[in-house]
Amino acid sequence: MASASRDFLPLPPGSFGLPFLGETLNFLFDPNFARKRQAKYGAIFKTRLLGRPTVVMAGAEANQFLLSTQMDCFSWREGWPGTFRELLGESLFLQEGEEHRRNRKLLMPAFHGPALAGYVDTMQALIDRDSQKWARLGQFTWFEEMKQLTFEIASTLLLGSAPGAETAQLSAWFTDLTAGLFSPPIRWCWMPFGKALRARDRLLHHIEQVVKERQAHPAHDALGLLVQSEDEAGNRLSLAEIKVQALLMLFAGHETTTSMLTSLVMALAQHPEVWERARQEQMALMTMSDRVSLEQLRQMPYLDQVIKEVERLYPPVAGGFRGVIKDFEFNGYRVPKGWMALYRIDAAHRDRALYTHPDTFDPDRFGPDRAEHKRADFSLVGFGGGPRICLGLAFAQMEIKLVAAHLLRHYTWELLPNQDLRMSQIPTLRPRSGLKVAFQPRSKTTSP
Ligand code: HEM
Repeated sequence: MASASRDFLPLPPGSFGLPFLGETLNFLFDPNFARKRQAKYGAIFKTRLLGRPTVVMAGAEANQFLLSTQMDCFSWREGWPGTFRELLGESLFLQEGEEHRRNRKLLMPAFHGPALAGYVDTMQALIDRDSQKWARLGQFTWFEEMKQLTFEIASTLLLGSAPGAETAQLSAWFTDLTAGLFSPPIRWCWMPFGKALRARDRLLHHIEQVVKERQAHPAHDALGLLVQSEDEAGNRLSLAEIKVQALLMLFAGHETTTSMLTSLVMALAQHPEVWERARQEQMALMTMSDRVSLEQLRQMPYLDQVIKEVERLYPPVAGGFRGVIKDFEFNGYRVPKGWMALYRIDAAHRDRALYTHPDTFDPDRFGPDRAEHKRADFSLVGFGGGPRICLGLAFAQMEIKLVAAHLLRHYTWELLPNQDLRMSQIPTLRPRSGLKVAFQPRSKTTSP
């Protein structure tokens, strides 16, 4: 529609709420904030969040609009709070256009294709070591344990850290850094943001030392590949770029993977019939080799379905904010430049028009005969979509499958009673209790 006629379209329905504060508190504290308004207003509604007029958009069509066909109306950079700019530097999240394309291309080889094969042994060694520790513990809270595991995997491959005391130190700095991302930008050294700035400097200093070491002695971990990465024009990432990109990867990949793994082991414990089928698939593969090889990872169709169902029902990230940089029209409404837009991942995942009984955990919906995610493009978007789909998608999926296959082959667990399994969304999805379990080697038991 021509822009002059678009000017006459109404703004989306909804309410801006209180002056300045808008509906921010409802958004943060009411888990059904968006669902209630979608039921009342439909696929697009307006609100005010963090002082800015915002449209919330829901459904596969809205996802496609925002993530692919009309992405020139939206800015990633403008979608993040200012604290991100300062703490995570000029990294991929904040880049747009040509700069983003160039950097994404240079980062990609470290997270796809042949590179992944080189990570299998490191991942497996850490998974094996941690699951033995969990068996010794017997009972523990899984979210925290998964977080340590995913941090160790990422920091070993991305920061070149040695498991043990060094990783523990990096993890502590990283925790301070993450806390600062969502805090007021007050720089005093005892405030969260001040602590985060100090932690960032220490992490960047650490990465710089490792990069220099990799430049002198090339290695095949992710950091080694980033150091060597070169595009067809001979461009390479500078030392400053590698440092901030490595930090971003750690941030983007660590809690998200933790969240999905925690939901996966919870769902298996709650659905013994699914667990048994997934276990049988692993048992059949184990007759060929006890070790999970890259080749074997391609032969687990049922586990693939289970993981997709976890992505659908328990997406770690709730959605994505963008700055609106060009007026646009959606569903007969006009959205002006300067607003924010939020796409909701769970809205399409729970859409009855796309998924049969969407609130039910049912991995068979992704089997070849039903393939419900193929009913519409952009209906399964746990990793985003379009040209800026998650860069770590293949890396995360491999890590999740390796953990799942190892646990299904060798261990069993049950959820402890009297815990709060209601899901909390911010910053990433998790059961409020953190998932308390009793865990033991499989040989001691007979069934899941
Ligand atoms: C289960 C694990 C993960 C989930 C659910 C996940 C989810 C997502 C989502 C939803 C987006 C798009 C956000 C938006 O559109 O606003 C995204 C982007 C991104 N993710 Fe992931 N992620 C995961 C793991 C990882 C890992 C392991 C890495 C790094 C190694 C990573 C790096 C990134 C990066 C760099 C982007 C931005 C891509 C770009 O702008 O081109 N993610 N992720």
